[in-house]
Amino acid sequence: MAVTIKSAREIQLMMESGKILAEVLERLGEMIKPGISTLDIDREGARIIKSYNTIPSFLNYNGYPASICVSVNDQVVHGIPDQHRILEEGDIVSLDAGVIYKGYHSDAARTYPVGEISEEARLLIERTRQSFYEGIKFARAGNHLNDISTAIDDYISQFGYGIVRDLVGHGIGKNLHEDPQVPNFKQKRRGIRLQAGMTLAIEPMINAGRADVVWEDDDWTVCSEDGSLSAHYENTVLITDGDPVILTLPSIGGSVNG
Ligand code: MF3
Ligand code: CO
Repeated sequence: MAVTIKSAREIQLMMESGKILAEVLERLGEMIKPGISTLDIDREGARIIKSYNTIPSFLNYNGYPASICVSVNDQVVHGIPDQHRILEEGDIVSLDAGVIYKGYHSDAARTYPVGEISEEARLLIERTRQSFYEGIKFARAGNHLNDISTAIDDYISQFGYGIVRDLVGHGIGKNLHEDPQVPNFKQKRRGIRLQAGMTLAIEPMINAGRADVVWEDDDWTVCSEDGSLSAHYENTVLITDGDPVILTLPSIGGSVNG
């Protein structure tokens, strides 16, 4: 599939889609505390998404059984909400969600602390988030895709963390996953040239230990192979002729410097 360039009308709809998703994640973040189950988060997420008259894009996507991916500690992404998985003080939990608004997708993820967490966990979350902001410094028309990947890789590598390689970011629009793929690690090729009107989901997934991942028996949940903590940070981003616009933040047009 070719990389799509969005029209002004499409960009407007993606902005609205992204703003709704940002609010969904913000409200879910506020409910994170010890004692709730990962299914509680999914139920509330589904309720909030419907209240905005949007559709949860993950539900039934390739058979995925929930609206929100909820991944705890060594789970990297695509954790399946479970009423028996109770969040505990000191855990970290990654929420990944997508909505469809008037036919347009947005996709975003954040990792939250559950109560008081270790300094190691706090740094992993903060640096994973920052790696996204390092990446989008290069998300500008005229640059190449690998400029984004390289910036994320260079920033993360100094900490000795593992950058997950089996999963990558992606174009997004009428479909949840469009071309191009957006790796979070340096490529040998410079990749496509970025143009105004492209919309990309940029989503570093970072392990405190090694980069290798394994799939749990449910065939969805991705875990770090070495059991190390993992964090995820994702936004849907619009390339323009000037600064990139992060579509999935509550206040669009905010700083791109993190
Ligand atoms: N947010 C994921 C991504 O970025 C999509 C999850 S698909 C699901 O690609 F089916 F697991 F929900
Ligand atoms: Co994504």
